[in-house]
Order: sequence, then structure tokens, then C-alpha cells
Amino acid sequence: MIRLDKYLADMGMGTRSELKKMIRSGRVQIDGVPAKKPEEKVDIASQTVTLDGKAVAYQKVEYYMLHKPAGVVSATKDKKEKTVLDLIGGQKRKDLFPVGRLDKDTEGLLLITNDGDMAHRLLAPGKHVDKVYFARIDGKVTNEDVIQFSEGVDIGDGDLTLPARLEILTSAEESEILLTIQEGRFHQVKRMFEAVGKKVTYLKRMSMGSLVLDENLKKGEYRPLTKEELEKLC
Ligand code: URA
Repeated sequence: MIRLDKYLADMGMGTRSELKKMIRSGRVQIDGVPAKKPEEKVDIASQTVTLDGKAVAYQKVEYYMLHKPAGVVSATKDKKEKTVLDLIGGQKRKDLFPVGRLDKDTEGLLLITNDGDMAHRLLAPGKHVDKVYFARIDGKVTNEDVIQFSEGVDIGDGDLTLPARLEILTSAEESEILLTIQEGRFHQVKRMFEAVGKKVTYLKRMSMGSLVLDENLKKGEYRPLTKEELEKLC
């Protein structure tokens, strides 16, 4: 059971004070009966809440795949910068957050959820979840780099990075690569390439565990995870 105003606030229907007014003015019904007070209790498993005649389903956990564009920060709030949550429009839960961080200039897959357990399963250092990045590198990426990355690189943290899989797609003045890492250290991909004397000029996350960026999503677009994606992630 959950308070009616919390139910509606969780589903992004308004602030508590706005909702109070909506409820008191008879716009909200529980099982077809106009609610009178914000503190009325709703059984989320069996009751139906409507606002202005439209059903408002209660979802405890939500999961969105965002194609993060460059230029937004991976935070829930920021005084100056646009955040990834500013891109999740419409009615949204107040407790959504991005699972892990991508740098402001990094693009690609970002999972947005309010499921803390799921975030922990994906991010905890001991879990070793694969993260695959596509990158453009200023410089010629070589087989020596492949070997070095597979053995671990000193990026100045005291301990080497875990073995990482570097796949060279093109190698010239500018190279294109795929890199699979199982950690999420600060600026990790950029620092790994710096450690071998090269610079990342473009970075995009392609996947995280079983979750693969949907290339139908344009930069800045998002969609709920499908049932299959969610089952695999769990
Ligand atoms: N590694 C980086 O250097 N930046 C990111 O945004 C993600 C991984």
C-alpha cells in the first residue's frame, strides 16, 4: 500500500503540492471512485488510479536505454550543464539515475534506471562486466598496444588495469578500434591510450554486459528496455 500523492509523484504526475490540489479538486479516482485526500492508500497490485480519466500505472522500477550525445554530463542534476536526465522527457520518476558515468564528450550506451541493485550488479568492481567502446585514436595503434592492453597498463593508479581486449579496425595516422574493458576507472579508455602515447579523439560506448546500444536510437534518444534485454541483464 502506498499513499496516493506518493503514487502519483513517483510516476511523475506533479509535485506533492500540485497533486494535493488535483486530488482535492476531484481529478483523481481510485477504482472509479473520486479520491478525497492525498494520504489515501492505494494497493499498487490490485487498484487502478486515474487522473483526468486516464489510467496511471505504477511501475516500481524503470529502465531506459539512452544514446548519450556528446555535450551532456552523466549526472542527475547540474547547476550549469545539461544532464543525461534532462534528455529523459515526459513524466519520469524522480529517482532515476545513470548507471555509471560517461565523460561529457563520450557518446553511446547509457542505462538509466531507479534500480539500485541492478546498478550495483553492473558496476561493482568484482563483477567484471564487459564494456565495449569504439574509439578513434590519433596515432597508429599497433599489435604491441594489443599485447600491452591484454597484460594490463599502468595508468598511474598504483595497480595495472585488468587485461583488456583491443581490436584494431583500421590502423593508420588515425586508427579505429574496439576496446573491451571490465572496469570503470575514471577516464579509463583515454588514460589507457595515453599510457601508450596516443590520444582518443572520439569515444562511444557500444555495450555493457549483455546490453547493446540500439543503433536505431539517434543521439539523445532513449527507449525503455525490452523484456528480453531486461531478462538478460538480470
Ligand atoms: N573511458 C573514458 O575515458 N571515458 C569514458 O567516458 C568512458 C570510458
